[in-house]
Amino acid sequence: VYPIVVAVDGPAGSGKSSVSKAVARELGYGFLDTGAAYRALAWHAEASGVDTDDAASVIGCLESFDYRIGTDPAGYGVHVGDTDVTSAIREPHISGIVSRVARVPEVRTHLIELFRAIMAAEPRPGIVVEGRDITTVVAPDAPVRVLLTASEEVRMARRAAELADVPAEATAEQLRARDRADSKVVDFMTAAEGVVTVDSTELDFDETVAAVIAVIRGSQ
Ligand code: C5P
Repeated sequence: VYPIVVAVDGPAGSGKSSVSKAVARELGYGFLDTGAAYRALAWHAEASGVDTDDAASVIGCLESFDYRIGTDPAGYGVHVGDTDVTSAIREPHISGIVSRVARVPEVRTHLIELFRAIMAAEPRPGIVVEGRDITTVVAPDAPVRVLLTASEEVRMARRAAELADVPAEATAEQLRARDRADSKVVDFMTAAEGVVTVDSTELDFDETVAAVIAVIRGSQ
């Protein structure tokens, strides 16, 4: 049987990754962080000496992009070839350039195919897939589709707390710039028809996880 797909979209700092991961763990589902793949491709392009502003060169990198994700629920590490890039792809430098790579249509087509192959191969009963265009483009037919939002103020504060060694204002500015750039490519701020919005502004982490699980249970 095909695994149940739980599609989760939302802006940067909405808590999508950590919430989706916790939901997957609790239900014994697989987990796919699609943003990590765009980040890993940005890392790979730079490691290959490519100017990430040049779409043709980025497209040229796709063939050699050997993206591998760990299936261990404790880690979900990300590798490009034999290199563990799990922490490198979270660096502010990569956050600063990833949108340039993600806006290239050929890049999106290539990665969407990869995501669908990973979803189809999931051995567990379900998979939580999170990103910006999962509910609308990658898996519009998923039986569970959630838009995870939070006020801009709360999203900035959460991300600043995560990157404690970077000045909060710099983090907030980068997050706003990234949302602006990404919004030109996909709309992840408004829920498409049939997509359930979970607003985590007033919820703590566990409450947000419980709210998403309630949506999943409610749809079964
Ligand atoms: O989710 P995260 O913030 O790690 O995503 C990193 C970047 O990857 C986003 O800023 C966006 O440019 C791109 N992305 C995307 N489509 C997705 C997921 C991420 O374009 N489904």
